[in-house]
Amino acid sequence: MRLAGKVAVVTGGASGIGRATALRFSAEGARVAIFDRNAGKGEEVLRDLRGGGMKAMFLPVDIAVEAQVKEGMRKVEAEFGALHVLVNNAAAFVFGSYDVTQEDWEEVLSVNVMGTAFCAKHAVEAMIRAGGGSIVNVSSISGFVAQEKSLPYNTSKAALLGLTRGLAMDLAPHKIRVNAVAPGCIDTPQLRADVERMGMTYEEDLALEGPLHMLSRFGTAEEVANTILFLVSDEASFVTGTCLMVDGGYTAK
Ligand SMILES: NC(=O)c1ccc[n+]([C@@H]2O[C@H](COP(=O)([O-])OP(=O)(O)OC[C@H]3O[C@@H](n4cnc5c(N)ncnc54)[C@H](O)[C@@H]3O)[C@@H](O)[C@H]2O)c1
Repeated sequence: MRLAGKVAVVTGGASGIGRATALRFSAEGARVAIFDRNAGKGEEVLRDLRGGGMKAMFLPVDIAVEAQVKEGMRKVEAEFGALHVLVNNAAAFVFGSYDVTQEDWEEVLSVNVMGTAFCAKHAVEAMIRAGGGSIVNVSSISGFVAQEKSLPYNTSKAALLGLTRGLAMDLAPHKIRVNAVAPGCIDTPQLRADVERMGMTYEEDLALEGPLHMLSRFGTAEEVANTILFLVSDEASFVTGTCLMVDGGYTAK
């Protein structure tokens, strides 16, 4: 059990990579709190977590609303007695290029960048009280290479890399490590929705985009969860301020 006795918050834990991460952490002995704005799916994951025998909670938090984040973190520490791990995984997906609206920019930046910063802000004091902690921000290959007509999203994922390095520096004295992961194409409900939006079948998209990854396929949510698990575990005790690619070789190609 690599996370025995630990308490973890996973944002966007109701679906995809966040769900897989919450389930993996729980299987490794952590008590997990999910923050998500999708209450229906959040309650479903909560049932799965409790079915595994571990304590867990779901809180209907919109990470873009600082007051909700603050209250959520307070509840987690009050209920579970501590907070050691934060995975900033929730994201808004708005697509478009130079001509997107102010509302689109605000939606993406308020969730992906400011929401992530709010979660870190309100987790830190509890982590200091716990004697240290670990934060992982979920960036993307889109933070490194341009993806067509995804300007606000690309910008937000690149911003997370700066946020990761800055937080890592400021929180190191408190024994809090901060890292990022950058997934390539991962088979999640979000990816499937994007494929549909583009008028393609999953198989057509896989044939088109799979080969862009050296491993010539899409990744699974579990493969990203495994990497996040490594980063938050004691095995990564000298790793901070970096980003680990989970992209099947996409950006190395
Ligand atoms: N799927 C991919 O191919 C891929 C690739 C690279 C990076 N990522 C990143 O991985 C993360 C998870 O993506 P996914 O594909 O699992 O998506 P998903 O849509 O399956 O899950 C995202 C979850 O975040 C929640 N969420 C969105 N906005 C929120 C908010 N303001 N407050 C609280 N919860 C909110 C949603 O309700 C949803 O449950 C994202 O950060 C995404 O940018 C995904």
